[in-house]
Parts: sequence; C-alpha cells; structure tokens
Amino acid sequence: MSEEVLKLKDVYKDYFKIGTAVNLETLEKDKDLIASQFNSMTAENDMKPIILSLEEEKFNYGPADQIVQFANDNNMGMRGHTLVWHNQTPGWMFKDGDKKAGRELMLSRLEKYIHTTMNHYNDSLFYAWDVVNEAIDDTGSHLLRESPWLDTIGEDYIERAFEFARDANPDIPLFYNDYNESHPHKREKIYKLVKDLIDKEIPVDGIGLQAHWNLEAPHLDDIRRAIEKYASLGLKLHVTEMDVSIFNFDDRRKDLTTLSPEMEEKQAERYGEFFSIFREYHEYIDSVTLWAASDRYNWLNDFPVENRKNWPMLFDEANQPKESFYRVTSF
Ligand code: GLA
Repeated sequence: MSEEVLKLKDVYKDYFKIGTAVNLETLEKDKDLIASQFNSMTAENDMKPIILSLEEEKFNYGPADQIVQFANDNNMGMRGHTLVWHNQTPGWMFKDGDKKAGRELMLSRLEKYIHTTMNHYNDSLFYAWDVVNEAIDDTGSHLLRESPWLDTIGEDYIERAFEFARDANPDIPLFYNDYNESHPHKREKIYKLVKDLIDKEIPVDGIGLQAHWNLEAPHLDDIRRAIEKYASLGLKLHVTEMDVSIFNFDDRRKDLTTLSPEMEEKQAERYGEFFSIFREYHEYIDSVTLWAASDRYNWLNDFPVENRKNWPMLFDEANQPKESFYRVTSF
C-alpha cells in the first residue's frame, strides 16, 4: 500500500477505536493491512466456546493467545467474543452422561467456563467482553430464542452469565451483542432485555450492534433510532461486526462474478452514510469493528450462499482501498 493512504485508526482517533475480526490465517496473510489500519481486534472464531473448550476440563487457548500476542506487539486493543451463545458451543456443556444436563450442572459449568476464560485473558488490552450473544428471537412475540441454555437453565441464564462475568473481572465492560439490531421489532426486544437487566441491577455495561448490513437495509433512520434508543439506557455502544453485503439477505443469486462500478459506488455511498452517523453519535460509540480486514477473505463468501463471492469490506481482494474506504476517511 502506498505511503499516502490514510489510516482508519488515525482518521478516527478522536471518535472511536477501529477494529477488525481476525483469524490466524488473516493475521499471516493480511498482517500489514491489519497492523497499519486498525487499533482493535476481535477473534472471528478463536475465542468461541467450541474452540476454547471442545472437551470438558480441557482448554485450548493456543490460537487465541497468538491473536492476543499480535495485539500486544502492535499496540492494539481486544474485544473478547463470545462467552455464551446457542451456536459454536460444544455439546458436552449440555449433557450429563447420556442425559440432558440439569440446571445446577449447567450453571456450574457456565461459571467455570466464564471464570477460566476471563481470568486467562485478564490483560489490560481487553477493553470489552461479549458476555451473551444473540439471545433474542428475531420474529414473533417470544423475547428469547430457543437454546439449550434457555431450555435447561431458564430465562435467568442471561442474568447469571453477566454476574459470573462481573465476578471474574470487576472492571471490564460487559456487553450484550446481537444482529438485526436496527430492525424496529428486534430493537424493542433488545431494549427490553437490557432494560430489565439494568432494572434488576445485573452488571451490563454495553450493547453490541453487530451491523451486518447491505446496500438497501437497514434504513438510515432505523439505525439512528436504534442508536438513540440503546443510548437512552445510559450504556456504551459498540459496532461489533460490521460489513456491507452486496446482496440483500434473501437475494440468493450466484451469477455475479465481479463487483460492478455501480455496486461499488452504492456501497461507498452506504459506508459514507453509516460512518457519518457513527461520527454524529460518537459520544455513545466507543468502538467500530469491521468483520473482516478486506474482500480477500470474509465469512460472506460462504454465507448465506455457499461459495458465492461477496465484496463487503473497505479494502479489495488485493488489500487496496476501495471507494468505500475513501468515503469513510474523507469528511
Ligand atoms: C455472528 C457471530 C459472529 C460470527 C458471525 C459470522 O454474528 O456473533 O461471531 O460467527 O455470526 O461470522
């Protein structure tokens, strides 16, 4: 990359941290881009329960430790992601021999898992942990989605998880993190969940807005309303997993093989508008994380359509700045 290219982390130093999701492969292949542009990282997968503790009583911190080492070497912060989730969690946590585990056993495992992991990463470069990820039902009138945690422990699994996390580390900000966070129906549910936690004096410090967005959704007004509603709770806000897909969620087309100039322009316009909103609300927003460093690698190349190329990030497949990058850095 040429010398004149601006750095996101410098451009935004008076606003918020700028992060990227990483894995060991991207830390190898994209290390210059990551170290030069960003000042925060989130492990894309390596701090999830299925990686950290695939088997009971065994912990595998190896890959995640390498990520933390990179953060240390390059003066970057870390967001811990994620302690309690219905996905990417090993089956042993929910079983007692051949039977389903009971409430007390699951609570004691949850406590141990949270304590061990947060104590292992008791490093000052961690500035947040996602304690509970995606607990809310997207549709319908139920507040919480089905999950083995809800099924066995009951609705208070979320409260207990935040309490265990606070016990494990009295200082670190604790987050509830979810997607479709700007959708009005889900926004009201996220607000209710977190407000109830606050009313019960459960230690929750922030809301993570995943921000898996696209060229059409969500509407800018809905993003503003979501930020304002969450901020009214007096919590910190982080944008935790941002990408701007070229495809709407229900667009399952597979015939697009290059990013057209029109699409690149539309994406740049969207990125520009999103970051302008983030700047406007920067007193509430402490951190904005993109869910990949560049279009070279990102999870949307396989989701929701397998093997379909997508171009959701600020840098292209050769890790060079796209029009979106220029729009985000010129204001
Ligand atoms: C969710 C999770 C992330 C990641 C993405 C897909 O948003 O919170 O950890 O798994 O899905 O990459």
